[in-house]
Amino acid sequence: MADIFVTRYLAPAAVERLRAAGHSVILNLQERTLAHAELVAQLAGKAGLIAYVPDRIDAALVDACPDLRAVANVAVGFNNIDIAACTRRGIGVSNTPDVLTNATAEIAWALIYACARRTAEAERHLRAGKWHGWGPRQFLGHDIVGQTLGIIGAGRIGRQVARMARGLAMPIVYYSPSAKPDFEAEMGAVRVSLDQLLRDSDFVSVHTPLTPATHHLIGRPQFALMKSTAILINTARGPVVDEVALVEALRTKRIFAAGLDVYENEPRLAPGVADLDNAVLLPHIGSATVETRTRMALLAADNMIAMLAGRRPPTPVNPELWPNLPAG
Ligand code: NAP
Ligand code: GLV
Repeated sequence: MADIFVTRYLAPAAVERLRAAGHSVILNLQERTLAHAELVAQLAGKAGLIAYVPDRIDAALVDACPDLRAVANVAVGFNNIDIAACTRRGIGVSNTPDVLTNATAEIAWALIYACARRTAEAERHLRAGKWHGWGPRQFLGHDIVGQTLGIIGAGRIGRQVARMARGLAMPIVYYSPSAKPDFEAEMGAVRVSLDQLLRDSDFVSVHTPLTPATHHLIGRPQFALMKSTAILINTARGPVVDEVALVEALRTKRIFAAGLDVYENEPRLAPGVADLDNAVLLPHIGSATVETRTRMALLAADNMIAMLAGRRPPTPVNPELWPNLPAG
């Protein structure tokens, strides 16, 4: 039986599950992310760490925490964790794929609609008392039905965003390192180069993980290829888009609008972006529904229980630590 530190609130059902498995659970109940040194201090004597996206689990932390055996990230993305450093030290790492796919795809669609139909901007106008009656040219946006949807990163979330376009008669193009024949058969999606996708799409939705290969995947040269009516959606990770180039593209109307749930230096915004009416900005709420966050917490608990028992977790990030072992 082990001590587990949780860096923020965790759904009570997940805490109960961990305690029922005999573990002692210590939660940081402050409404803030702990600083690196505070986290290291909390991890003294702890075998388990349940972490969130803002927690940085780097090599220095791993080296400073000799008791740590398992890290369960309550997120599908794991760019906040130095996986190689964990694996070297034999620390298991898990994430929470699938259970948040629908919620995150829904937020991508919320941004698509808000950008295309300028709903956030129109609501701000109304609430500010600036609306003095209906007008034929007020808040003209762009059609969604029949327009081309470009998916960058056709994984779980990217493909689900495309599926949610059923009924909207949108041609789908995608760019991903590997071909997705099932997706092509299911949705009539066409695999194209990144440049082709940017040239052809009315909506470009980014769904890659953050890796060295995807850092600033979308920057000035890519904005130059896009239609002036195009809309960029980023619910993946902030650094996949060069924010300086994005602000320039929005300010000069190189593209029509952008909808963002993630930022390069969260929680800081790029200078100028908050002043732009053609940017719709959400505070990283892709998976933020009661049901989804509960499923994520329960999956993280199951992962932690398995890893601390020496078993392969249901959703491992470094599965090589459990060779030939079934999930359990
Ligand atoms: P996933 O199933 O692993 O899908 C990622 C896709 O990206 C894969 O299909 C992969 O292609 C593709 N990809 C990898 N490198 C690429 C590159 N260089 N260029 C183009 N495509 C590339 O992951 P997911 O579950 O869909 O999640 C995707 C990301 O969304 C997560 O990593 C996370 O950062 C983000 N996310 C954000 C929120 C939020 O709250 N906003 C919530 C959940 C997830 P192949 O299949 O060909 O390898
Ligand atoms: C959230 O950003 C996640 O990766 O789950």
